[in-house]
Amino acid sequence: MAESESNPTRAFVIGHPIGHSRSPLIHGYWLRLAGLPGSYQPVEVAPAELPVFIRALKDGSSGFAGGNVTIPHKEAVLDLVDEADPVAREIGAANTLWCENGRVMATNTDSHGFSANLDHQASGWDTGRTAVILGAGGASRAIIHALLSRGFSTVHVVNRTETRARALVEAFGPRLQAHAMAELPVLLRGADLFVNTTSLGMDGNAVPEIDFTVMNPQALVTDIVYVPLETPILAMARRQGLKTVDGLGMLLHQAAPGFEKWFGTRPEVTPDLRRLIIADM
Ligand code: ATR
Repeated sequence: MAESESNPTRAFVIGHPIGHSRSPLIHGYWLRLAGLPGSYQPVEVAPAELPVFIRALKDGSSGFAGGNVTIPHKEAVLDLVDEADPVAREIGAANTLWCENGRVMATNTDSHGFSANLDHQASGWDTGRTAVILGAGGASRAIIHALLSRGFSTVHVVNRTETRARALVEAFGPRLQAHAMAELPVLLRGADLFVNTTSLGMDGNAVPEIDFTVMNPQALVTDIVYVPLETPILAMARRQGLKTVDGLGMLLHQAAPGFEKWFGTRPEVTPDLRRLIIADM
């Protein structure tokens, strides 16, 4: 994107509500670090206003170069943009928009964010073959995309509502298998990765004991919830001696490709940025 003192690049994050988003903190940090005059601002957009917002992005009247999309617009925005890339179409949701030759383009960087977080927090970790994912919602779809892209041969999706897990198998194909919660203990045997994408344990109810020690000795246990950094599931796995990866890095890494699209320079996920977000929790 062209960037000049007289006409600084502007980017947004849209959602409803939008007050909770930490994206302005992340992009504001990178803008200051790079010494760029651009801006990144939260914009409250109700579902009924989304088509008008995207039209104004397309015709240039909004003044934005692009931005992020969060709940509840990630799925609906796909029908409004001019072009969604294969990643966004496979996941069925977009979180990053930008303008190119008068067209609004969309991608989904959550899959990249998940993968990059694993690589950075568990460097040297050899991608395994079998993963177990708890949850079958929007976040789960992005992670399934990431795991299939990394070459996992089997991804077991375990969900409270088994029919939702089965719908994912239809969307992503034969390397996925759908299961009810009761099957979790058996599925963990010999598995290389466990990912929690649910709010299990975050509602004040205790998490039922899960035996992670039956996993492959090199296995990783990760959670996409990052407040608190050590979720009840991560705490349980760590107590059992497993290597754990928290979810904050996924948030930070998914933000980097968008920043590069709008402001023209690839930012880094640094320990300072992590500390800044943790201080804001
Ligand atoms: P997201 O986009 O964050 O994935 P979502 O689409 O609402 O959010 O999906 C939430 C996921 O967490 C679902 O898999 C949900 O299970 P159901 O499909 O059965 O609703 C799961 N989930 C939420 N609370 C849970 C709990 N207390 N125990 C088990 N699973 C839970």
